[in-house]
Amino acid sequence: MKITSLKLNNFRNYKSLSLDFSNKQNIIIGPNGVGKTNIVEAIYVLAITKSFRGSLDKVLINTKSNEMVIEGRVKDRIFHDYKLSLSDDGKTVKVDNNKVVKLSNYISRINVIIFTPEDTNIIKDSPTSRRNLLNIEISQYDQSYLHILNEYNKILKQRNAFLKLMYVNKLASPDYLWILTEKLVDIGLQICSYREKFINGINEYYDDIYKSITNKNGLKVSYVSTYKNKKKDELLKKYRYYMDRDIVLGKTSIGVHHDDIIFSIDGNNLKDFGSEGEQKNAIICFKLAEIEMYIKDKKKYPILILDDLFSCLDAKKINNILKKLNKNLQIFITTTDLKNINTKILNNCTVFNIKNEKVVKKVYE
Ligand SMILES: Nc1ncnc2c1ncn2[C@@H]1O[C@H](COP(=O)(O)OP(=O)(O)OP(=O)(O)O)[C@@H](O)[C@H]1O
Ligand SMILES: [Mg+2]
Repeated sequence: MKITSLKLNNFRNYKSLSLDFSNKQNIIIGPNGVGKTNIVEAIYVLAITKSFRGSLDKVLINTKSNEMVIEGRVKDRIFHDYKLSLSDDGKTVKVDNNKVVKLSNYISRINVIIFTPEDTNIIKDSPTSRRNLLNIEISQYDQSYLHILNEYNKILKQRNAFLKLMYVNKLASPDYLWILTEKLVDIGLQICSYREKFINGINEYYDDIYKSITNKNGLKVSYVSTYKNKKKDELLKKYRYYMDRDIVLGKTSIGVHHDDIIFSIDGNNLKDFGSEGEQKNAIICFKLAEIEMYIKDKKKYPILILDDLFSCLDAKKINNILKKLNKNLQIFITTTDLKNINTKILNNCTVFNIKNEKVVKKVYE
């Protein structure tokens, strides 16, 4: 999968920008604050429909405008034209000029794997950011996942609302609660199975990648869920056990909305034991393992974005990673200094030098 061109209108600091990309390595350089991340962010937003910076959609629109458009041509087996528009009226996405109503039918189309400096906090952060990671990655990897996840969240919301109602109205019959609980468990078990399969897939490649980068072993990621290895009946029993507490709290205390993943080296949780460097390596290896899953298991090449990786790992390690990446991958690298990149790697790269919202393109051969 390659994005061959990108057109921006009023996206962040770009009033109007048109770029043609290389199918191989694209390097975006320029001083701090010039708009390097904004370019890769636009590619990501076109794929996922949301930014990785966790900011509100509104901030993606140029401050002097009230509408922005991102357009991109992407080659998978054939070319498709993608268009995302955002204004006060909301967000619309189009594929080949046809509007896609459900975002869940859109999100798995352009596969992007991104590494950003913010990712290095995933291990330290709350379980929510690790679940977000899982949800975004699996939504892209498996088209049906997001539909199921949306359904789960809908039922969870209904269940929580009904719990609150039961708290206020002590005479409310719990029958409806059990209808919702059964649905929640059925769908939760499906989500659990997707997540477990995905994490097992990562582990197939995870430690080998870690070894190739650090010369050390023992890296693992584990999926933690109350649903794991449980049958429907066992789970329903648990919900019965927690019913009174759930009514008092007005929310559902167990379920896949509390799942987590643990990153460990030799069985030690990196959240508590890992150095900064080990945590960064664990996340970058996670992303690299995903690429392997796409290539080996799906026979697909996702678009790889490495945003400001040089601020996270030492240049020698990064050049070592770049050297080993599959040659068929389309890669986007942002950096403030071309000197960070090994001259051998620089050959065959296309460099985009950004100055005053203008981009100068140079192909190294
Ligand atoms: N909605 C917006 N409208 C106009 N300008 C914006 C908007 N959002 C962000 N910017 C500008 O974009 C610039 C930041 O761009 P970006 O994050 O891409 O920089 P960068 O080149 O990646 O910098 P660094 O090297 O520090 O990571 C800032 O100058 C910011 O003011
Ligand atoms: Mg940046």
